[in-house]
Amino acid sequence: MLKPNKLANNNFLSSLDLSTDEIFHLLELAKNYKNKKINIDLKNKVLGLIFDKSSTRTRVSFQVAMTRLGGTTIDLNPTTSQIGRGEPIKDTARVLSRYCDVIAIRTFEHSDLEEYAKWSSKPVINALTDLEHPCQALADFFTIKEEFIDFKNVVLTFIGDGNNVANSLILCGALLDVEVRIACPKGYEPKSLIIDRAREIYRNKSLLKITNDLDSAVAGANVLYTDVWSSMGEENQKEKKDKDFDGFTIDSNLIEKANKDAIILHCLPAYRNKEITDAAIESNKSRIFEQAENRMHTQQALLSCLLS
Ligand code: CP
Ligand code: NVA
Repeated sequence: MLKPNKLANNNFLSSLDLSTDEIFHLLELAKNYKNKKINIDLKNKVLGLIFDKSSTRTRVSFQVAMTRLGGTTIDLNPTTSQIGRGEPIKDTARVLSRYCDVIAIRTFEHSDLEEYAKWSSKPVINALTDLEHPCQALADFFTIKEEFIDFKNVVLTFIGDGNNVANSLILCGALLDVEVRIACPKGYEPKSLIIDRAREIYRNKSLLKITNDLDSAVAGANVLYTDVWSSMGEENQKEKKDKDFDGFTIDSNLIEKANKDAIILHCLPAYRNKEITDAAIESNKSRIFEQAENRMHTQQALLSCLLS
């Protein structure tokens, strides 16, 4: 039976906290969890969940993943705990470290997550910040591997905002040496900090392309991926962004321009008929619901490694 290996980093705050070998190990473990070929007992281990933003998939997949591993979760609702009152992160982190074995945090500022990790003596997991969504990227590459067996010659095209989901895909893609193309309207490119770091990892192979030209980004793509144009916390920009992203919808015309074997991914939740049509979500090329399921398997793998 495959055993979870301890990870070099105590935390999972960024896709960059993993090495390439560790990502492959997590994907292999996730496959074993999915096929019920592995049984790890994390009895008495407790995962604390702190979510400053809404969540369906991340919250529930972590809860179920922990239950399947024999552990339990505690939902630390910021509005009914002292977190919402503004108790300093360094106090909360040190107290929770004494109760919980691992903490997953969804918040706005990535620096707040880093502050938690700095003061926590237990592993901290990024359950989404404004900068990254690394748990999502793990499930995404697992879903891509399920489809294409390996990553050789896979071209992943992300269409939309250079946001947290795009950032983690770029970094994880770089570690896996996958060609990643980002197609976005002018002004919505991912942060140069992320692009520069990814290019260093690719060692200057030109496998990361950032473009405003949708057609060239989609030609030959095996994976078409999108996410909402306005992320949580950007509600006041929605009207402007809806206008600026006009034409960047995954629809049947665009799908026609991709490789014949192309699959469609979306991290969900979606705004149907904005960034993706209803028909594209429901098409036989969509792997969106497998992708959502895979959050649970990859997070079982992650939790078992962080707690081993
Ligand atoms: N994809 C994702 O993280 O979904 P939730 O916001 O529902 O957790
Ligand atoms: N980019 C989106 C992802 C939601 C899972 C957001 O941050 O709202």
